[in-house]
Amino acid sequence: MKEIVHKTKNMVQKAFSENEGSHDWHHIERVRRMALHLMQSEGGNRFIIEMSALLHDLEDWKITHENTDNQKVKSWIHSFKIPHQICDDIVQVINEVSYKGAGVSTPCSSIESMIVQDADRLDAMGAIGIARAFAFGGSKGHPLFLPHKEIVLHESFEHYKKKQTSTLHHFYEKLLLLKERMNTNTARKIAGERHRFMLTFIDEFKKEWEF
Ligand code: ADP
Ligand code: NI
Repeated sequence: MKEIVHKTKNMVQKAFSENEGSHDWHHIERVRRMALHLMQSEGGNRFIIEMSALLHDLEDWKITHENTDNQKVKSWIHSFKIPHQICDDIVQVINEVSYKGAGVSTPCSSIESMIVQDADRLDAMGAIGIARAFAFGGSKGHPLFLPHKEIVLHESFEHYKKKQTSTLHHFYEKLLLLKERMNTNTARKIAGERHRFMLTFIDEFKKEWEF
């Protein structure tokens, strides 16, 4: 199992070597480490957690711009002699990780899924979350802020995917909502601190904007 995780790390590191800062190899590695930290108090199967953390963004719609039905992930894990049930569990976790809009629920069917979803979302919060949001927005040419544009809490994944707003809007559409959507108590505590830091940042941003 260790060997499979090691090979998967190398494959993902190569695949992500040219990505911009919001979805680069370091994001994957932080999510893997945070997921293992959460596992220490919350439990779960280490192999499933580590593999799905490593593979969770390989076919993300935001990066690939298409729905590939996890074909790459499936063929990668099926190339090892892993029991079918475990492969299915990994794919299920990956399918359940992603945020799909303020009004869209993203339930988790296993403790592994709860942990990887929490770890991914914690990396979208706090100082690193702020940096990632502006890296992502910058890569798409989004403005920092559009003061007159309304804030929309998207009720469907389709609308959320098509949205065209400023990066500061993204805080209201996603980042500030994450604290309430944590699955585990361990993550909820960390999310509280990261949330407060984002609020301080937004206050200061608006003060400077309106100076
Ligand atoms: P998820 O799968 O839940 O969307 P990811 O790990 O793929 O999570 O990464 C989402 C990251 O991309 C977050 O850090 C988030 O801030 C950033 N992001 C996504 N959409 C936007 C956007 N419209 N503006 C700014 N940042 C964004
Ligand atoms: Ni991610």
